[in-house]
Amino acid sequence: MSLKDVVIYYSLEGSTKFIAETVAAELNADIIELKTKKEFAKTGFKKYFIAGMTVVFGLRPKIQNQYIDLNKYNNIILGTPIWAGSFASPFNTLIAQDKFQRRKVAIFTTSLGSDTKKCFDNFKKKLPNNEFIGEISFLEPKKTPDESKTKAVEWAKGLNF
Ligand SMILES: Cc1cc2nc3c(=O)[nH]c(=O)nc-3n(C[C@H](O)[C@H](O)[C@H](O)COP(=O)(O)O)c2cc1C
Repeated sequence: MSLKDVVIYYSLEGSTKFIAETVAAELNADIIELKTKKEFAKTGFKKYFIAGMTVVFGLRPKIQNQYIDLNKYNNIILGTPIWAGSFASPFNTLIAQDKFQRRKVAIFTTSLGSDTKKCFDNFKKKLPNNEFIGEISFLEPKKTPDESKTKAVEWAKGLNF
């Protein structure tokens, strides 16, 4: 029996969740949402400051997920909002738990418009010995849901796993 693919994502406000669900459905992949034990603030000054600091300082917020056994999966799709120019800090926690190797990996980001190259590069640096076969960014996807969904489906279809 061939192993399933998996979409692993973190989403504070739903944009990344929206794309993750679209991509997982298209690929018939499993989907895992990283959930922090303590939810980050969603409003006000704290929203950018606290969560942003966890990225700047490379912190690993505790996550609710039990140990995620990535050996159960074949290809891995990572989905993150851009935080302070990089991936959201719950991925630091995931990567500390399981530094998978020799996988085909695809990455998508959602953001307000920052250049996302740094985020892609940081994932590649933190997850060496994998083959990165796809990357795409979505700007405020919930503002144009139909267009974003089409873009996500096309991207998923074109992934050369
Ligand atoms: C702590 C924090 C830092 C952020 N930093 C950036 C950034 O550097 N560049 C950017 O374009 N958007 C930034 N954003 C906006 C998010 O990337 C964007 O709203 C994203 O789509 C949210 O995804 P989500 O709804 O899945 O949480 C930041 C948001 C937060 C909460």
